[in-house]
Amino acid sequence: MTTMQDKHTWSGRFSEPVAELVKRYTASVEFDKRLALFDIQGSLAHAQMLAACDIISTRDLDLIQHGMAEIKEEIVQGNFIWSLDLEDVHLNIEKRLTALAGDAGKRLHTGRSRNDQVATDVRLYLRQAIDDLLILVQGLQAALVDLAARHTHTIMPGFTHLQVAQPVSFAHHLLAYFEMLKRDAERLTDARRRVNRLPLGAAALAGTSYPIKREMVAELLDFEGICENSLDAVSDRDFAIEFTAAAALIMTHLSRLSEELILWMSPRFGFIDIADRFCTGSSIMPQKKNPDVPELVRGKTGRVTGHLMALLTLMKSQPLAYNKDNQEDKEPLFDTVDTLTQTLRIYADMIGGITVKPEAMRSAALQGYATATDLADYLVKKGVPFRDAHEAVALAVRHAEQRHCDLADLALEELKRFSPLVEQDIYAVLTLEGSLAARNHTGGTAPQQVKAAIERARSYLSR
Ligand code: ARG
Repeated sequence: MTTMQDKHTWSGRFSEPVAELVKRYTASVEFDKRLALFDIQGSLAHAQMLAACDIISTRDLDLIQHGMAEIKEEIVQGNFIWSLDLEDVHLNIEKRLTALAGDAGKRLHTGRSRNDQVATDVRLYLRQAIDDLLILVQGLQAALVDLAARHTHTIMPGFTHLQVAQPVSFAHHLLAYFEMLKRDAERLTDARRRVNRLPLGAAALAGTSYPIKREMVAELLDFEGICENSLDAVSDRDFAIEFTAAAALIMTHLSRLSEELILWMSPRFGFIDIADRFCTGSSIMPQKKNPDVPELVRGKTGRVTGHLMALLTLMKSQPLAYNKDNQEDKEPLFDTVDTLTQTLRIYADMIGGITVKPEAMRSAALQGYATATDLADYLVKKGVPFRDAHEAVALAVRHAEQRHCDLADLALEELKRFSPLVEQDIYAVLTLEGSLAARNHTGGTAPQQVKAAIERARSYLSR
């Protein structure tokens, strides 16, 4: 009798082996071998259930468990021999198991298909990845909070349209990213709930005729529940798409911070310095120190967003149920996890290595009429309607501009020309400190509020 292995065909149904090119084209082992330990984990739970349901004997289970233990060891040690002829991670492991455990190995696939097997593996993999990523997101948040805690009173210009708008606490600016990452973590946690469901038991697409217990497998694998429709279980990859969308948003947030770090490090701003170990020089211009890491993060954001588009496009219009298209889910997903993992790790370190230059921030904040709104608010508090106050201050700014000075440099008599209601106490309002202190409510930039926000952030991180 010829077997699948010695003819390299699927079964007696095929009259010729798969063409060499086609074999290479359809094989996934090169990348899905990364799922190996999750594949074994899933197989062991499946086998345990098969034995509990008397579908295989306890002796078979024992042989499967011993064989899998050996295979796991071989994989961990790097001694496992992967074969392209065996197409994917599942068939490679099953073949090796059969070599070690004989017929018991061949019985493992009872009541199962690679379709529900691979969906299970990817979910186990992604669940672990999400848990690891959540720790890294927290690490970055902690780094931001630590830096912020040292700069509640450091004043920088806040920007809109990249034009100086109003002075803000540098800590307040950093904490904006803390909030983004908090939502990012929520998104990951939420996606995890839908990742954490068991497809096994769906078999190829319709379920299986063996008396299986899916709930038992779910419990063994720590899934929160089972996928309730077999066709859906084997075919949809929405959980991977959702995760990648959350990942793309994290990268998008980090691309914003990266852009700012790059600007701030440019001598034109000179707000910060990034530690040398995160920068490179130029091979031709000896004076250069380039912010390579944030630039690459900015660039890699496109890569992860691309993976999201790839996965959405992969899923689009796929008829039920499983289609081989879905084999293409792995590389984008793995690369998303890898890119995000490396990015979060390096970012937390880099934030810890930032030198802040408060003097440069301060003088920039003093340059752009950043307290003009405070002057308008001052007039409003004296009874001037806001729109009129806005206009009066606009004229005052224009005047100061012509004189090449700041609003605070104008004499009281000059200021009174724009509104007779201006008194000596205006000078306290026009200082950067006064401007910050005035925004004293939850979510505002007053140092007192920023300190409270840091406290909240710390208790969030230690929860
Ligand atoms: N390597 C395949 C994948 O990644 C496993 C499932 C293949 N199933 C099949 N009937 N060809 O999706």
